[in-house]
Formats: sequence, C-alpha cells, structure tokens
Amino acid sequence: MKVFFKTYGCQMNIRDSEIMEELLVRSGHEIVRNLSSADVVVINTCAVRGKSENKAYSLIGRLKKRGLRVGVTGCVAEIALKDLKRRGADFVLGTRALTSIVDAIEGKVDFDMSDHLSDIKEIVTASNISGTYESVTMRTSKRHAWVNIIAGCNKFCTYCVVPYTRGREVSRPMANVIEEVKLLADSGYNQVTFLGQNVDSYGKDLKDETSLAELLRRVYKFENIERFWFLTSYPSDITDELIEVVAERPRISRNFHLPAQSGSNTILNRMNRQYTREEYIELIRKIRSKVEGATIGGDIIVGFPGESDEDFEQTLSLVKEVKYVRLNIAPYSPRQRTVASRLYSDDVPTAVKKKRMATLSKVQHAILLEMNEKLIGKSVNIIVEGKKDGKSYGRTIDNRMVFFEGDVPEGENVKVKIQHATAGPIYGELLGRVLKFVK
Ligand code: SAH
Ligand code: SF4
Ligand code: F3S
Repeated sequence: MKVFFKTYGCQMNIRDSEIMEELLVRSGHEIVRNLSSADVVVINTCAVRGKSENKAYSLIGRLKKRGLRVGVTGCVAEIALKDLKRRGADFVLGTRALTSIVDAIEGKVDFDMSDHLSDIKEIVTASNISGTYESVTMRTSKRHAWVNIIAGCNKFCTYCVVPYTRGREVSRPMANVIEEVKLLADSGYNQVTFLGQNVDSYGKDLKDETSLAELLRRVYKFENIERFWFLTSYPSDITDELIEVVAERPRISRNFHLPAQSGSNTILNRMNRQYTREEYIELIRKIRSKVEGATIGGDIIVGFPGESDEDFEQTLSLVKEVKYVRLNIAPYSPRQRTVASRLYSDDVPTAVKKKRMATLSKVQHAILLEMNEKLIGKSVNIIVEGKKDGKSYGRTIDNRMVFFEGDVPEGENVKVKIQHATAGPIYGELLGRVLKFVK
C-alpha cells in the first residue's frame, strides 16, 4: 500500500514516524511524499496544546472528505480515542504500539490498541523488533540521526499532558543504544541527538549503571560522530557528573536545553516544577563555570492560571538574566486529565497572554541580537544541515544557526567567518571545509 505520513509535534514523534515508515517498507509497503498518490494517511499527532490537537482533527476532516483511509498515531491517540473515532479515524494506535502499524495498515486489526497500552511496558523501537539496525533507510537525514533513549515522563507538571500520552519513563538498555550508534557511525552519520521527554532521567528505571553521563562516555569512542546532542533536560535532573562529562568532551554539544517554564516561585510551585528560580539560576551558573562556551535554551509558558503581573515580571527578569540562545514561548493551554485543568481555571485572559508573549519576545529579541552581534568577525565551526533560499545553513556546537553563500552538501564540516547578525539567523562567509573539527 502507498502510505503518506503527516507528523506533528516534537522530535520523538519525528523519530516514531521514521520507525513506522521503516517497518512498513520492510513489509513491502511504499512511503509516498505526495498526498495525492496515497492510499492511506497516517497522522502522527501532538497533544501538548489545544492548538496542536486541533490540527489533527481538522486534517482528519479534510482527508475523510476526500475519501481517504486515515490512521491516527501519537499523543492525541492516547487521550481522545472516542473523538478520533467520531471524526472518522479508521484506526488509532497508541504511542507504545508503533509495532502494530503494519497490521493496522493492512486492516488486520480492529482497533483500539490504546486500551491495551498500560500493559505494554517495553519501549518500542525498530531494534526491539528486528534485533538489528541494518537498515537506516527511512531516517529523514542521512547524516544526523535522532536516537530515542527514554520514553515517557514521571514528573507530572500540573499543566502537561505528556505523562498521560507517553506513560511512565522507560529507558532503553544502554547496550542496545550503543549498538544503534555504532551502526549509525558505520553508515556515514556524523551527528546523533539522544532524545527523551526527560533525557537526563535516562537509566533511573533500570537500576544499573545506566545514565546519560555514562552513555555519553561510552559512545564517545565512535570518532566518526562529530557531534552528540541531547534533548530535553529537566533542570533538577542535571547531575554534576553529566556537566563534567560534557565539559571534558569537545564533541558533545555545548547547548543545554533547560525549560524553566516560569521565573516565579509561586507559579513554579503550582506547576509542580521541582526547583526554585534560585536553584535554576544556580544550575546555569554552575554549567557556565564548568563548560566552556556553554549556551542555554529554554521554554516558557505564559499565562499559567493565577499568573499575576508580578509573576510575569519575574519571568521577564529570569529571561534577561539567563540570556537564552533559543527560547520557545507558549501560551498556557488547559489539557484534559491534567491537575491544572481540574484545579485551576484558565483565568489569564487571551489578550493578556498575547500581550505578555509579545513583551517577552521583544525582550528576547534584543538579547539575541546583542549575543549574536558578539560573533561578528569570529570564525565558527559549522556542520551543514541543508539549504534555504540559495544559502547553505548549519549549526555551531552551541546551537546557533548560521547561513552562508556556497553549495556545501549536508553533513560537511565547514569554517565560516561571521559577518552579519540578526535576532534570528546569523550570516557569514565560507572560509573552507574541514575534515575533522576535533582531532
Ligand atoms: N519535558 C520537557 C518539555 C516537554 S513539553 C520539560 O520538562 O520541560 C514541551 C513544552 O511544551 C514544555 O516545555 C512547555 O513549555 C510546553 N507546554 C507543555 N504543556 C503545555 C500547556 N498545557 N500549555 C502550554 N504550553 C505547554
Ligand atoms: Fe511535561 Fe513536565 Fe514531563 Fe516535561 S517534565 S514532559 S513538562 S510533565
Ligand atoms: Fe507533542 Fe507528544 Fe511530543 S504531546 S510535544 S508529540 S511528546
């Protein structure tokens, strides 16, 4: 059958789509990149905010009108089974039931797999299925690979639906991950990003020596991998050991993505975030003092229930203090099943949320411009990730996006001299290609 995938949401979902595509290809199906030639459409959904969920519903509506067969996987599948059926979904697969995609596409199961989810304890990856990663055919990039190492979340932030859509934390055995990285290194990959909802919780459920720090130590021997990244970290789970491992290894990203969510202790407490503003700032100070050139990324939720002007000011001042190189700002969206949606009313008016988002973006833009301008005249090491508007682009090891003139293939290492900076992209001139950044 000809199958078209539409993927929403985070990198975990992108990786899940790659795995499902691979399973289908191995079973003789074809993945098409053009909707008009598809027999079946799989929508891999995100439920993090109302807006993401609604995207899935409207797409189902449009596809059903065209008479297409539509399957739904991903986070919405876990929380809105009835809605999805009512809207005409032909099958629904939960986040830990990816392996059933072939049967689902072939119409062999009359679903609802979601009902069985709580019984499925194993994290589903292609390696669990075949025992080998011989085929890396369906990965989106041929040079930079997503590798999930832990799924699920035990944190239960009061606003967040993820613990309900991904279940409790389940880590992949380290040997299994190392095998995958080896295959990637042997197949020409030079960047690997380890993924998890809380990537720094990796191994806690395994009761052995498994941890993110230990994994990074062990995979570091694969010298073809020029850069290792990890996403997303929960601030209070970052250990001194992890900071040390990064500090001592120049092929590990200097960027720590540490979502703060708010700068107000009152709000952090009501969000059930397990750190205070002061602890968060101290963590960043520690990272910066130990890891040369470290940069910080973050996420902020604006307009959480009860967020006063004063609370928002605290967030604003946190953002000014931290100086993020990347910041995702989202308006609070009540999510079914969550504690916040049951206990608190969504009492910050939309107009106020919008105004606070605009204020925060403006401040963040000014900070970014200043930080980016400091790079002018400097030469930076970039791994090329693609082309846009006639320019090649790639990222520095501290996660800054740089554009330059020149036709360089994806995955190549280049040196670029920075000439011009904006609050968004940074522009430079190609100095030349480099075989290896770290010898
Ligand atoms: N595990 C990560 C985040 C995963 S969800 C962490 O702990 O930070 C990705 C981001 O979506 C979150 O960082 C948060 O900023 C945003 N988000 C999650 N639930 C939300 C909600 N109900 N409303 C608005 N934004 C939300
Ligand atoms: Fe959601 Fe919190 Fe878990 Fe992040 S740590 S996925 S925000 S519950
Ligand atoms: Fe969305 Fe699920 Fe990822 S809710 S952000 S796709 S874990």
